[in-house]
Amino acid sequence: MSDITALQDDLLNQIGAASDEAALEAVRVSALGKKGSISALLATLGKMSPDQRKVEGAAINAVKDKVTQALGERRDLLKSAALDARLARETLDVTLPVRDAPAEAGRIHPLSQVWDELTTIFADMGFTIAEGPDIETDDYNFTKLNFPIGHPAREMHDTFFFNPKEDGSRLLLRTHTSPVQVRTMLSQTPPIRVVCPGRTYRIDSDATHTPQFHQVEGLVIDKGSHLGHLKWILHEFCKAFFEVDNVNMRFRPSFFPFTEPSLEVDIQCRRGKDEIRFGEGEDWLEILGCGMVHPNVLRACNIDPDVYQGFAWGMGIDRIAMLKYGLPDLRALFDADVRWLNHYGFRPLEVPTLAGGLSS
Ligand code: DAH
Repeated sequence: MSDITALQDDLLNQIGAASDEAALEAVRVSALGKKGSISALLATLGKMSPDQRKVEGAAINAVKDKVTQALGERRDLLKSAALDARLARETLDVTLPVRDAPAEAGRIHPLSQVWDELTTIFADMGFTIAEGPDIETDDYNFTKLNFPIGHPAREMHDTFFFNPKEDGSRLLLRTHTSPVQVRTMLSQTPPIRVVCPGRTYRIDSDATHTPQFHQVEGLVIDKGSHLGHLKWILHEFCKAFFEVDNVNMRFRPSFFPFTEPSLEVDIQCRRGKDEIRFGEGEDWLEILGCGMVHPNVLRACNIDPDVYQGFAWGMGIDRIAMLKYGLPDLRALFDADVRWLNHYGFRPLEVPTLAGGLSS
Protein backbone atom coordinates (compact mmCIF):
# COMPACT_ATOMS: atom_id res chain seq x y z
CA MET A 1 0.00 0.00 0.00
CA SER A 2 1.42 3.37 -1.01
CA ASP A 3 1.97 6.08 1.61
CA ILE A 4 -0.79 8.13 0.15
CA THR A 5 -3.35 5.36 0.42
CA ALA A 6 -2.23 4.77 4.00
CA LEU A 7 -2.66 8.45 4.75
CA GLN A 8 -6.12 8.40 3.20
CA ASP A 9 -7.17 5.38 5.22
CA ASP A 10 -5.79 6.89 8.40
CA LEU A 11 -7.63 10.17 7.84
CA LEU A 12 -10.90 8.43 6.96
CA ASN A 13 -10.56 6.36 10.15
CA GLN A 14 -9.99 9.45 12.24
CA ILE A 15 -13.00 11.15 10.63
CA GLY A 16 -15.14 8.12 11.36
CA ALA A 17 -13.95 8.11 14.98
CA ALA A 18 -14.51 11.84 15.65
CA SER A 19 -17.29 11.89 18.23
CA ASP A 20 -18.19 15.58 18.07
CA GLU A 21 -17.72 18.62 15.87
CA ALA A 22 -14.68 19.87 17.77
CA ALA A 23 -12.85 16.54 17.30
CA LEU A 24 -13.80 16.57 13.62
CA GLU A 25 -12.43 20.08 13.19
CA ALA A 26 -9.14 18.95 14.74
CA VAL A 27 -8.89 16.18 12.11
CA ARG A 28 -9.68 18.67 9.34
CA VAL A 29 -6.93 21.03 10.49
CA SER A 30 -4.42 18.15 10.75
CA ALA A 31 -5.13 17.20 7.11
CA LEU A 32 -6.13 20.35 5.24
CA GLY A 33 -4.88 23.16 7.48
CA LYS A 34 -1.80 25.17 6.56
CA LYS A 35 0.47 22.64 8.21
CA GLY A 36 -1.79 19.70 7.47
CA SER A 37 -0.62 16.38 6.03
CA ILE A 38 -2.43 16.79 2.67
CA SER A 39 -1.31 20.40 2.35
CA ALA A 40 2.26 19.19 2.92
CA LEU A 41 1.87 16.65 0.10
CA LEU A 42 0.45 19.30 -2.23
CA ALA A 43 3.46 21.49 -1.47
CA THR A 44 5.76 18.76 -2.82
CA LEU A 45 4.19 19.01 -6.32
CA GLY A 46 6.24 22.10 -7.24
CA LYS A 47 9.48 20.21 -7.08
CA MET A 48 8.29 17.35 -9.28
CA SER A 49 8.81 16.83 -13.00
CA PRO A 50 5.72 17.59 -15.13
CA ASP A 51 5.03 13.92 -15.77
CA GLN A 52 5.38 12.95 -12.15
CA ARG A 53 3.27 15.94 -11.09
CA LYS A 54 0.48 14.78 -13.41
CA VAL A 55 0.30 11.37 -11.78
CA GLU A 56 1.00 12.36 -8.17
CA GLY A 57 -1.11 15.53 -8.42
CA ALA A 58 -4.15 13.58 -9.53
CA ALA A 59 -3.64 11.05 -6.73
CA ILE A 60 -3.17 13.67 -3.98
CA ASN A 61 -6.18 15.67 -5.15
CA ALA A 62 -8.26 12.51 -5.24
CA VAL A 63 -7.35 11.91 -1.58
CA LYS A 64 -8.09 15.54 -0.77
CA ASP A 65 -11.54 15.29 -2.39
CA LYS A 66 -12.32 12.05 -0.60
CA VAL A 67 -11.26 13.46 2.76
CA THR A 68 -13.18 16.71 2.17
CA GLN A 69 -16.31 14.78 1.26
CA ALA A 70 -15.95 12.47 4.29
CA LEU A 71 -15.49 15.51 6.55
CA GLY A 72 -18.70 17.08 5.19
CA GLU A 73 -20.73 13.93 5.62
CA ARG A 74 -19.41 13.31 9.12
CA ARG A 75 -20.15 16.94 10.07
CA ASP A 76 -23.76 16.65 8.91
CA LEU A 77 -24.14 13.43 10.83
CA LEU A 78 -22.68 14.86 14.05
CA LYS A 79 -24.81 17.99 13.72
CA SER A 80 -28.05 16.12 13.46
CA ALA A 81 -27.01 13.75 16.28
CA ALA A 82 -26.26 16.77 18.50
CA LEU A 83 -29.65 18.27 17.66
CA ASP A 84 -31.42 14.99 18.43
CA ALA A 85 -29.63 14.75 21.77
CA ARG A 86 -30.58 18.34 22.64
CA LEU A 87 -34.20 17.78 21.69
CA ALA A 88 -34.31 14.68 23.85
CA ARG A 89 -32.63 16.50 26.74
CA GLU A 90 -34.90 19.54 26.63
CA THR A 91 -38.14 17.65 26.41
CA LEU A 92 -40.90 19.28 28.43
CA ASP A 93 -43.60 17.05 29.85
CA VAL A 94 -46.62 19.33 29.72
CA THR A 95 -48.71 16.73 31.52
CA LEU A 96 -46.74 17.14 34.78
CA PRO A 97 -48.64 19.01 37.56
CA VAL A 98 -47.66 22.68 37.94
CA ARG A 99 -45.73 23.80 41.01
CA ASP A 100 -47.66 25.75 43.71
CA ALA A 101 -47.70 29.51 43.18
CA PRO A 102 -45.65 31.39 45.84
CA ALA A 103 -48.85 32.64 47.45
CA GLU A 104 -49.93 29.01 47.88
CA ALA A 105 -46.60 27.81 49.22
CA GLY A 106 -46.21 30.49 51.93
CA ARG A 107 -47.87 30.19 55.33
CA ILE A 108 -49.38 32.77 57.68
CA HIS A 109 -48.04 32.56 61.24
CA PRO A 110 -50.72 31.49 63.76
CA LEU A 111 -50.19 34.72 65.70
CA SER A 112 -50.85 36.84 62.62
CA GLN A 113 -53.89 34.69 61.91
CA VAL A 114 -55.27 35.15 65.46
CA TRP A 115 -54.47 38.86 65.30
CA ASP A 116 -56.54 39.11 62.10
CA GLU A 117 -59.31 37.01 63.59
CA LEU A 118 -59.73 39.12 66.68
CA THR A 119 -59.53 42.46 64.91
CA THR A 120 -62.16 41.14 62.47
CA ILE A 121 -64.48 40.22 65.34
CA PHE A 122 -64.08 43.50 67.23
CA ALA A 123 -64.30 45.58 64.05
CA ASP A 124 -67.61 43.88 63.34
CA MET A 125 -68.84 44.97 66.79
CA GLY A 126 -68.00 48.58 65.94
CA PHE A 127 -64.58 48.93 67.57
CA THR A 128 -61.75 50.83 65.92
CA ILE A 129 -58.11 49.75 66.21
CA ALA A 130 -55.76 51.95 68.24
CA GLU A 131 -52.01 51.53 68.44
CA GLY A 132 -49.18 52.91 70.53
CA PRO A 133 -45.37 52.65 70.65
CA ASP A 134 -43.49 49.69 72.13
CA ILE A 135 -41.18 52.12 73.98
CA GLU A 136 -43.20 53.95 76.61
CA THR A 137 -42.78 56.42 79.41
CA ASP A 138 -43.09 55.32 83.00
CA ASP A 139 -45.93 57.84 83.24
CA TYR A 140 -48.11 56.16 80.55
CA ASN A 141 -47.20 52.59 81.43
CA PHE A 142 -47.71 53.02 85.19
CA THR A 143 -48.44 56.39 86.78
CA LYS A 144 -51.45 57.48 84.72
CA LEU A 145 -52.83 53.94 85.11
CA ASN A 146 -53.00 54.52 88.84
CA PHE A 147 -49.83 52.68 89.83
CA PRO A 148 -48.58 55.10 92.51
CA ILE A 149 -44.80 55.62 92.46
CA GLY A 150 -43.24 52.98 94.73
CA HIS A 151 -46.43 50.88 94.72
CA PRO A 152 -45.69 47.12 94.86
CA ALA A 153 -47.94 46.49 91.84
CA ARG A 154 -45.16 47.95 89.71
CA GLU A 155 -42.91 45.10 90.83
CA MET A 156 -45.39 42.54 89.44
CA HIS A 157 -44.44 43.73 85.95
CA ASP A 158 -40.82 42.64 85.52
CA THR A 159 -39.96 45.64 83.43
CA PHE A 160 -37.21 46.22 80.89
CA PHE A 161 -36.03 49.76 81.69
CA PHE A 162 -33.75 51.90 79.53
CA ASN A 163 -30.88 53.78 81.19
CA PRO A 164 -32.14 56.85 83.10
CA LYS A 165 -32.09 60.19 81.28
CA GLU A 166 -30.41 63.26 82.77
CA ASP A 167 -33.61 64.30 84.55
CA GLY A 168 -33.80 60.85 86.15
CA SER A 169 -36.81 59.65 84.10
CA ARG A 170 -36.57 56.24 82.45
CA LEU A 171 -38.16 54.97 79.27
CA LEU A 172 -39.24 51.33 79.26
CA LEU A 173 -40.55 48.59 76.99
CA ARG A 174 -44.28 48.59 77.69
CA THR A 175 -45.26 45.75 79.99
CA HIS A 176 -48.87 45.71 78.77
CA THR A 177 -51.05 47.35 76.12
CA SER A 178 -52.88 49.40 78.76
CA PRO A 179 -50.84 52.59 78.04
CA VAL A 180 -52.67 52.70 74.69
CA GLN A 181 -55.83 53.31 76.77
CA VAL A 182 -54.16 56.40 78.19
CA ARG A 183 -53.03 57.63 74.77
CA THR A 184 -56.52 57.09 73.38
CA MET A 185 -58.30 58.91 76.20
CA LEU A 186 -55.86 61.81 75.97
CA SER A 187 -56.39 62.18 72.23
CA GLN A 188 -60.10 61.39 71.77
CA THR A 189 -63.28 62.57 73.41
CA PRO A 190 -65.87 60.00 74.51
CA PRO A 191 -67.69 57.98 73.37
CA ILE A 192 -64.62 55.79 72.88
CA ARG A 193 -64.60 52.23 71.61
CA VAL A 194 -61.17 50.86 70.74
CA VAL A 195 -59.18 47.66 70.74
CA CYS A 196 -55.41 47.86 70.87
CA PRO A 197 -53.44 44.79 69.77
CA GLY A 198 -49.69 45.01 70.17
CA ARG A 199 -46.33 43.72 71.35
CA THR A 200 -45.54 43.73 75.07
CA TYR A 201 -42.39 42.90 77.07
CA ARG A 202 -41.51 41.46 80.47
CA ILE A 203 -38.38 39.88 81.93
CA ASP A 204 -39.68 36.34 81.97
CA SER A 205 -38.85 33.17 80.02
CA ASP A 206 -40.11 29.60 80.35
CA ALA A 207 -42.53 27.21 78.56
CA THR A 208 -45.47 29.57 79.16
CA HIS A 209 -43.68 32.95 79.13
CA THR A 210 -41.52 34.71 76.56
CA PRO A 211 -39.82 38.10 77.12
CA GLN A 212 -41.78 39.50 74.21
CA PHE A 213 -45.43 38.56 73.87
CA HIS A 214 -48.71 40.05 72.60
CA GLN A 215 -51.81 41.49 74.17
CA VAL A 216 -55.02 43.02 72.98
CA GLU A 217 -56.54 45.74 75.07
CA GLY A 218 -60.17 46.88 74.87
CA LEU A 219 -61.57 50.16 76.09
CA VAL A 220 -65.10 51.56 76.10
CA ILE A 221 -65.88 54.97 77.63
CA ASP A 222 -69.36 56.49 77.53
CA LYS A 223 -71.92 57.92 79.90
CA GLY A 224 -73.76 54.69 80.64
CA SER A 225 -71.26 51.88 79.90
CA HIS A 226 -71.38 49.18 82.54
CA LEU A 227 -70.22 45.66 83.40
CA GLY A 228 -73.25 44.12 81.67
CA HIS A 229 -71.99 45.53 78.35
CA LEU A 230 -68.52 44.22 79.09
CA LYS A 231 -69.84 40.72 79.81
CA TRP A 232 -71.85 40.70 76.60
CA ILE A 233 -68.89 41.82 74.50
CA LEU A 234 -66.54 39.23 75.98
CA HIS A 235 -69.15 36.50 75.66
CA GLU A 236 -69.82 37.31 72.01
CA PHE A 237 -66.12 37.58 71.35
CA CYS A 238 -65.37 34.16 72.85
CA LYS A 239 -68.16 32.47 70.89
CA ALA A 240 -66.96 34.02 67.63
CA PHE A 241 -63.28 33.46 68.32
CA PHE A 242 -63.50 29.85 69.48
CA GLU A 243 -66.14 29.20 66.80
CA VAL A 244 -68.62 27.53 69.17
CA ASP A 245 -72.33 28.19 69.75
CA ASN A 246 -72.08 28.56 73.48
CA VAL A 247 -69.36 29.48 75.95
CA ASN A 248 -69.68 29.36 79.72
CA MET A 249 -67.66 32.09 81.38
CA ARG A 250 -66.79 32.75 85.00
CA PHE A 251 -66.00 36.22 86.32
CA ARG A 252 -63.79 36.21 89.43
CA PRO A 253 -62.90 39.25 91.57
CA SER A 254 -59.30 40.33 91.11
CA PHE A 255 -57.06 43.35 91.45
CA PHE A 256 -55.60 45.75 88.89
CA PRO A 257 -54.65 49.31 89.87
CA PHE A 258 -56.42 50.76 86.82
CA THR A 259 -59.82 49.12 87.31
CA GLU A 260 -62.36 49.05 90.11
CA PRO A 261 -63.96 46.60 90.42
CA SER A 262 -61.44 44.29 88.74
CA LEU A 263 -62.24 40.83 87.43
CA GLU A 264 -60.53 37.87 85.86
CA VAL A 265 -62.37 35.78 83.31
CA ASP A 266 -62.19 32.01 82.90
CA ILE A 267 -63.85 30.03 80.15
CA GLN A 268 -65.14 26.54 80.58
CA CYS A 269 -63.43 23.77 78.68
CA ARG A 270 -62.93 20.06 78.45
CA ARG A 271 -59.44 18.65 78.01
CA GLY A 272 -59.20 15.53 75.84
CA LYS A 273 -56.09 13.49 75.18
CA ASP A 274 -54.79 15.61 72.32
CA GLU A 275 -57.24 18.44 72.22
CA ILE A 276 -59.18 20.88 74.27
CA ARG A 277 -62.82 21.84 73.67
CA PHE A 278 -64.23 25.20 74.64
CA GLY A 279 -67.61 26.17 75.96
CA GLU A 280 -68.40 23.16 78.13
CA GLY A 281 -66.66 20.60 80.34
CA GLU A 282 -65.25 20.42 83.85
CA ASP A 283 -62.19 22.66 83.57
CA TRP A 284 -61.78 26.44 83.65
CA LEU A 285 -59.10 28.39 81.83
CA GLU A 286 -58.18 31.97 82.61
CA ILE A 287 -58.07 34.09 79.48
CA LEU A 288 -58.17 37.76 80.47
CA GLY A 289 -58.37 40.53 83.05
CA CYS A 290 -60.95 43.32 82.99
CA GLY A 291 -62.91 45.82 85.02
CA MET A 292 -64.47 49.26 85.24
CA VAL A 293 -61.89 51.97 84.50
CA HIS A 294 -60.74 53.50 87.80
CA PRO A 295 -61.86 57.13 88.30
CA ASN A 296 -58.22 58.07 88.96
CA VAL A 297 -57.32 56.85 85.46
CA LEU A 298 -60.14 58.85 83.88
CA ARG A 299 -59.02 61.94 85.79
CA ALA A 300 -55.38 61.45 84.77
CA CYS A 301 -56.58 61.34 81.16
CA ASN A 302 -58.69 64.53 81.43
CA ILE A 303 -62.04 62.71 81.45
CA ASP A 304 -64.55 63.73 84.12
CA PRO A 305 -65.47 60.59 86.13
CA ASP A 306 -68.67 62.28 87.26
CA VAL A 307 -69.86 62.35 83.63
CA TYR A 308 -68.20 59.37 82.01
CA GLN A 309 -67.46 55.81 82.98
CA GLY A 310 -66.28 52.79 81.11
CA PHE A 311 -64.68 49.41 81.11
CA ALA A 312 -61.50 47.82 79.81
CA TRP A 313 -59.96 44.41 79.34
CA GLY A 314 -56.60 42.95 78.46
CA MET A 315 -56.03 39.55 76.94
CA GLY A 316 -52.91 37.58 75.96
CA ILE A 317 -52.96 36.96 72.21
CA ASP A 318 -50.32 34.22 72.37
CA ARG A 319 -52.36 32.45 75.02
CA ILE A 320 -55.63 32.41 73.09
CA ALA A 321 -53.71 31.37 69.96
CA MET A 322 -52.22 28.40 71.82
CA LEU A 323 -55.61 27.46 73.22
CA LYS A 324 -57.48 27.70 69.95
CA TYR A 325 -54.93 25.98 67.76
CA GLY A 326 -53.49 23.50 70.26
CA LEU A 327 -49.94 24.86 70.15
CA PRO A 328 -48.04 22.98 72.85
CA ASP A 329 -45.10 25.32 73.52
CA LEU A 330 -45.28 29.10 73.57
CA ARG A 331 -41.62 29.45 72.62
CA ALA A 332 -42.23 27.79 69.23
CA LEU A 333 -44.24 30.87 68.25
CA PHE A 334 -40.99 32.84 68.28
CA ASP A 335 -38.58 30.25 66.85
CA ALA A 336 -39.01 31.15 63.16
CA ASP A 337 -38.80 27.44 62.29
CA VAL A 338 -40.19 26.96 58.80
CA ARG A 339 -41.12 23.31 59.46
CA TRP A 340 -43.25 24.39 62.43
CA LEU A 341 -44.77 27.14 60.30
CA ASN A 342 -45.62 24.68 57.52
CA HIS A 343 -47.39 22.52 60.08
CA TYR A 344 -49.26 25.14 62.11
CA GLY A 345 -49.46 28.01 59.58
CA PHE A 346 -52.46 29.13 57.54
CA ARG A 347 -52.96 29.45 53.81
CA PRO A 348 -52.34 33.05 52.80
CA LEU A 349 -55.37 33.51 50.58
CA GLU A 350 -57.82 32.29 53.20
CA VAL A 351 -58.29 35.60 54.97
CA PRO A 352 -60.44 35.34 58.11
CA THR A 353 -63.90 36.88 57.73
CA LEU A 354 -67.02 36.46 59.83
CA ALA A 355 -69.08 35.66 56.77
CA GLY A 356 -66.65 33.17 55.25
CA GLY A 357 -65.40 31.59 58.49
CA LEU A 358 -62.53 32.70 60.68
CA SER A 359 -60.22 29.73 60.46
CA SER A 360 -61.61 27.50 57.74
N1 DAH B 1 -52.81 45.17 81.74
C1 DAH B 1 -53.11 43.94 82.41
C2 DAH B 1 -51.92 43.01 82.39
O1 DAH B 1 -51.14 43.06 81.53
C3 DAH B 1 -54.28 43.26 81.75
C4 DAH B 1 -55.55 44.03 81.97
C5 DAH B 1 -56.35 43.74 83.05
C6 DAH B 1 -55.90 45.05 81.11
C7 DAH B 1 -57.50 44.45 83.27
C8 DAH B 1 -57.07 45.77 81.32
C9 DAH B 1 -57.86 45.47 82.43
O2 DAH B 1 -57.47 46.75 80.54
O3 DAH B 1 -59.00 46.16 82.63
O4 DAH B 1 -51.74 42.23 83.24
